[in-house]
Amino acid sequence: MTKIQSIRGMPDVLPGDSARWQWVERTVQDVLARFGYRQIRLPVLEETALFARGVGETSDIVEKEMYSFLDRGGDSVTLRPEGTAGCVRACEQHGLLYNQTQRLWYAGPMFRYERPQRGRYRQFEQIGVECFGFPGPDVDAELLMMTAEMWRALGVRDAVRLELNSLGTPAARQAWREALLAYLRPFAADLDEDSRRRLERNPLRILDSKVERTREIVADAPTFDASMDDESRRHFEGLLALLQSAGIEPVLNPRLVRGLDYYSRTVFEWTTDRLGAQGTVCAGGRYDGLVEQLGGRPTPGIGFAMGVDRLLLLAEALDAVPAALAQEVDVYLVHLDEDALEAAFALARRLREALPDLRVQMHAGGGKVKARLKRADASGAEYALLLGADEVSAGTATLKPLRSDAQQQTLTPAALIDQLRARNG
Ligand code: HAM
Repeated sequence: MTKIQSIRGMPDVLPGDSARWQWVERTVQDVLARFGYRQIRLPVLEETALFARGVGETSDIVEKEMYSFLDRGGDSVTLRPEGTAGCVRACEQHGLLYNQTQRLWYAGPMFRYERPQRGRYRQFEQIGVECFGFPGPDVDAELLMMTAEMWRALGVRDAVRLELNSLGTPAARQAWREALLAYLRPFAADLDEDSRRRLERNPLRILDSKVERTREIVADAPTFDASMDDESRRHFEGLLALLQSAGIEPVLNPRLVRGLDYYSRTVFEWTTDRLGAQGTVCAGGRYDGLVEQLGGRPTPGIGFAMGVDRLLLLAEALDAVPAALAQEVDVYLVHLDEDALEAAFALARRLREALPDLRVQMHAGGGKVKARLKRADASGAEYALLLGADEVSAGTATLKPLRSDAQQQTLTPAALIDQLRARNG
């Protein structure tokens, strides 16, 4: 029989790596809490129409990357390719938007049928943030300051830069679209196939084509600047001033249009050149029209999502992941004969109660004493704690350092707790 393997592009995170994942998640979530953001937990499966309407019919995601299928009731459902549309859907459905402001975050897997490579997967993890009800540039600035703080906390700040652009209002973008179309039409035959197909439907997307000849053509295309409306210009300038006062220096990139159709005004990407082609670790922008487009009242929105897979790759490339994460057990408790097992469980319970930060692993599975001690060593624990018949009758246990030459000590539980507490600081 052939063995069943994981699906291409859907990696497992093995136990040796999960502590590093947790470190990224915890670090980012700590910053979110310190900025007063609240978690929203959303389903992984939504109606297909949500993404078609929300993300955009002409986006790559909706055109060719969604995991869509008919469920057993015959309804078309889709594994979420991103979190914004679902977050808007949930907020609208539960009345969280009208006359209120929200600062929310979510985390979890997203699904896109892309060509897998390092840093690009078909199931990947995002931590996303969405804010609702804030029309001005203050919240745009807050989000960018908050992300900068996250990069500092993860130790990757010096390796990422902020690319920033404004797409203006939908009306201004429409004017730009016309100008672009007028410029691009004469080159239609020279464009790559994808871009030619996009020409009439979504010409803005041609701007981020990776095809050499298309890039050359696009290099002289009209930029949005000339079409931008005054209100959006003021918004953008307000944002730039706030960023400057916070010491954040963005790279202004007029070609930054983003692959999802819902954006207006501010769009941004945090990129690095340490990860090859998959260098965008976090991206987002303002989507003032999306709530309305999904059936709600006009409500300004802005957010971003970071790729946790990529951030971890980056932190690893920079050696920013704390080394201490590798150690997952502090004390490995070995009962030296089976008669001592109950006493061992009781001692483990007492230690865990007295020292909630201490990680105590019990030996299980029997074996000779020598094999038990070998397991203690293999656990990575700093100490083995030995409990035999003698210790049980004396009411003590023997603490044996595994990573230093220090002497082992036979201690009462109270002395043991003091000793381990001192070590844990
Ligand atoms: P996105 O640019 O499609 O935006 O994805 C955000 C981030 O998710 C990317 O910058 C990247 O780090 C990560 N990512 C995307 N695709 C993959 C993949 N196949 N493998 C690994 N990582 C990936 C959004 O999803 C928007 N919902 C962001 C947003 C929130 N805009 C406003 N609010």
